[in-house]
Amino acid sequence: MTDTQTLQKTIDDLVQTGKGILAADESLPTITKRFKAIGVESTEETRRAWRELLLGTPGLGEYISGVILFEETLDQTDASGTPLPRLAEVQGIVPGIKVDRGKIPLPGAPGDMITQGLDFLAERLEGYREKGARFAKWREVYPISGHNPTPLGIEANAEVLARYASICQARGFVPIVEPEVLIDGDHSIERAFEVIQAVQHAVYHALHRHGVILEYTLLKPSMVTPGKQHPNRATPEEVAEYTVRALRRTVPAAVPSVNFLSGGQTPEEATANLNAMNALFPGQPWELSFSYARALQQPAMAAWGGRPEKVEAARHALLKRARLNGAARRGEYRPDME
Ligand code: 13P
Repeated sequence: MTDTQTLQKTIDDLVQTGKGILAADESLPTITKRFKAIGVESTEETRRAWRELLLGTPGLGEYISGVILFEETLDQTDASGTPLPRLAEVQGIVPGIKVDRGKIPLPGAPGDMITQGLDFLAERLEGYREKGARFAKWREVYPISGHNPTPLGIEANAEVLARYASICQARGFVPIVEPEVLIDGDHSIERAFEVIQAVQHAVYHALHRHGVILEYTLLKPSMVTPGKQHPNRATPEEVAEYTVRALRRTVPAAVPSVNFLSGGQTPEEATANLNAMNALFPGQPWELSFSYARALQQPAMAAWGGRPEKVEAARHALLKRARLNGAARRGEYRPDME
């Protein structure tokens, strides 16, 4: 296959009606935090066991087209010695890999951050390919405050996302471009709308500058919601309206799919908000889908609690969220399905 055929095949496998992406790529500090909340120590073995539980869930491939893995998982195996990425593959789930190396403060832009990991990325991708990965993910983070993100933060982060995406495509990897505007803070939904528009506008400008072929990319954005500490919650209809408006103003029609992050929304909120977009605004140029970590994993992780005898209950909980988000993909979710 030529490089573009390889990229197109990955897009075709990832973008499917009624399906979305499972993010299971928590870094070591993040998984440690998630495990701590359920009283589980984070060790190589507990992380392996958890990810075996996820990827070995029978029927998951019916709702999940791709899974984003953390580097360590590529080398781990299940109890019978099957590599974990292979467990996903046999269910028709494409393995992908988080390639960024986390964020640091951005000098010159107090409060803003920038993500590291571009050095030797091309060489690292070759190693990931041999272990089964076909797409990649990179996350830039934008906090909202009175003065954040700054114009420099918006520009610098967009530039890094574009550098990452162009390196991926040159190596036959579909890049998921993730500009995460954080939900933390007491800002209004209007303020989130303003920031998300500015961020996405800069990202697509940078992708164009770097010659990234938009047809072979996916966007993983934040939904437009009020800050977590804002006194008012928004309805799914309001979230859908602001989010779709921001996307329509900034994301070219060539992008095949928009796969939202959940960003601290409850699992039910993330499903209802996605559903409202598909129910109220069908026929957008891009698919409106999901790439959740917490909103897919949280109930399953709570059911598991590190106990081998709870694997089945946890898989049941995971499958339920996957199925409901699959319905939300088509605008067919109703809260009574919970
Ligand atoms: P959440 O859905 O938990 O926000 O995670 C998505 C993700 O991949 C963050 O990088």
